[in-house]
Amino acid sequence: MDKLEVMIPEDQIVSRVKEVAAEISRDYNGEPVTVIGVLTGAFIFCADLVRNLDLPVKIDFVQVSSYVGDTSTGELKIKKDISSDIKGENVLLVEDIIDTGRTLLKLRQMLSERGPKSIKICTAFDKPSRRVVELVPDYNCFTIPDSFVVGYGLDYDGEYRQFKDVKIVRIDDEQQP
Ligand code: IMP
Ligand code: MG
Repeated sequence: MDKLEVMIPEDQIVSRVKEVAAEISRDYNGEPVTVIGVLTGAFIFCADLVRNLDLPVKIDFVQVSSYVGDTSTGELKIKKDISSDIKGENVLLVEDIIDTGRTLLKLRQMLSERGPKSIKICTAFDKPSRRVVELVPDYNCFTIPDSFVVGYGLDYDGEYRQFKDVKIVRIDDEQQP
């Protein structure tokens, strides 16, 4: 069994998401926003965030493939594209966690080619010590150290997304190859 230890309890997540949503609402000042959640991890954060935004909101989702090997120059594979036309829209890209930063850097690049009015990034968790490209989120709920975490949408091998707390995974040595 993997050992799981709480890193950020549910009540802290709930209140911090409300704070960030209030900050976003103030910044956009009544302007409509198209929230684009990055599947699958961001589905819970996205749902909590949009319910606390005091703005006209449209919601869409995108799913991209993970990188394999050394992909710093590689293409981003879109598994599921957004369904809406974002030309002239204020886009808020919503991600579960930023690690190396490659995914969001490419995604932001790709979506900005479609002519949105603005494009910003909001993440639930950020691991800036892991960054390999220059990418700073416009909104971030929690900066965390370099540990592998699960819960609040984040998975380990497809599991644990449903946890209300964020937990650190200590992988059982017996499962290691
Ligand atoms: P990157 O920023 O392009 O390296 O990729 C970020 C993606 O890696 C996230 O959307 C997650 O899917 C995954 N990821 C990174 N760190 C973690 C973690 O600690 N737990 C679960 N997934 C993670
Ligand atoms: Mg992800």
